[in-house]
Amino acid sequence: MHQEQLKKNLRNDFPSLTKKILSNDLVYFDTAASAQKPSVVIEALGDFYANHYSNVSRGVHTLCVEATFKYEDARKKVQKFINAKSENEIIFTKNATESINLVAQTYFKKFMQSGDEIILSVMEHHSNLLPWFFLRDNYGVILKFINIDQDGQLDLDHFQSLITDKTKLVAITHLSNVFGTITDKKIIQISRENNLHVLLDGCQSASHLKVDVTELDCDFFVFSGHKLYGPSGIGVLYGKENLLNELPPFLGGGGMINEVSLDGATYAALPAKYEAGTPPMVEAYGLGVAIDYINNIGMENVELYEKELTDYASQKMSDLNFVNRYSNSINKTSIISFNLKNIHAHEVASFLDVEGIAVRAGHHCCQPLMKILDVPATARASFGIYNNKHEVDYFIDALIKCNSFFSVK
Ligand SMILES: Cc1ncc(COP(=O)(O)O)c(C=O)c1O
Repeated sequence: MHQEQLKKNLRNDFPSLTKKILSNDLVYFDTAASAQKPSVVIEALGDFYANHYSNVSRGVHTLCVEATFKYEDARKKVQKFINAKSENEIIFTKNATESINLVAQTYFKKFMQSGDEIILSVMEHHSNLLPWFFLRDNYGVILKFINIDQDGQLDLDHFQSLITDKTKLVAITHLSNVFGTITDKKIIQISRENNLHVLLDGCQSASHLKVDVTELDCDFFVFSGHKLYGPSGIGVLYGKENLLNELPPFLGGGGMINEVSLDGATYAALPAKYEAGTPPMVEAYGLGVAIDYINNIGMENVELYEKELTDYASQKMSDLNFVNRYSNSINKTSIISFNLKNIHAHEVASFLDVEGIAVRAGHHCCQPLMKILDVPATARASFGIYNNKHEVDYFIDALIKCNSFFSVK
């Protein structure tokens, strides 16, 4: 039933997809950068502002109570969505980038000293590199990077060889934003055996896979609402409650305190401890509505549907001898990075745009990875729940057109 629903008409739920690019229907293959929003989310934001708006947790009047209820209810929805054990484990931030910075700064203060080691991978997004670079530059933390194989999967043997008695934390992507490859759970298992904490960057996985943080047994999991059909300006940090309790506060300000005197302060319990200042309450509410929308389809259905679509597109692209794809892994979904031989990715993206197809071209905030792939940029087609095989067929035809256009020139 839901699979049928996905195949037929989800596109109609997304007003932006009715847009024409020149005279072409928009084919939006840039969900990895940010997802389009269903009407229910767009309308919910307006409703919050029109009917329930107030600051949260700061008053007893009716609007404040309503707004606070909606904000905290969104937290419960996130908790259930990723199967966290407690609402206290869900911290709202402004995006995944802020969530990673929060962990980097507080984790170092509690658990690390100069000379200690963190393991990342060579295919991390800049958002999962720079926060750790700050620790290297400012405090002498040593960073090590797991290599990847030719299909964009992490090399587990290499990972194991990097672990020493100085290693404290492993921070890696759960689903690569360049290859679409899914990280093998064994990496968490190996980390556990070596008493290492694990942070998963779930920016891409949260919208394409059924995520269960309890089953995954990671210590931290981060994602952004805007890639999950929710509003921009809302991010999530999941952290195991005992760990978040041990870590020091991150930002200071209103809302995160218990008591303040001119000599100092004591801090609020979780999750308020990490939510200094007026939080993104409307955005959190919008994320909750997006989660309801996805739950109604069923994350298992989303996963199956997008995997089928990705395999279909990969197969069709592999029939084109002028296309280089950067991962043939079977354990991947929703993201395909590619180049057309002898044509710059930006030219391909501009050509496709004229055809109405939105893909991203560039380094995808993975400059170290581009260096390893030995390319300045790739084009990237990424799929969401509103895409379908007709659009893939249209995209394939456009690639053929693009190739002959530039070959003739
Ligand atoms: C894998 C990955 N990590 C982190 C980020 C950063 O997300 P945000 O900019 O929403 O903080 C992105 C966004 O593209 C991403 O794809």
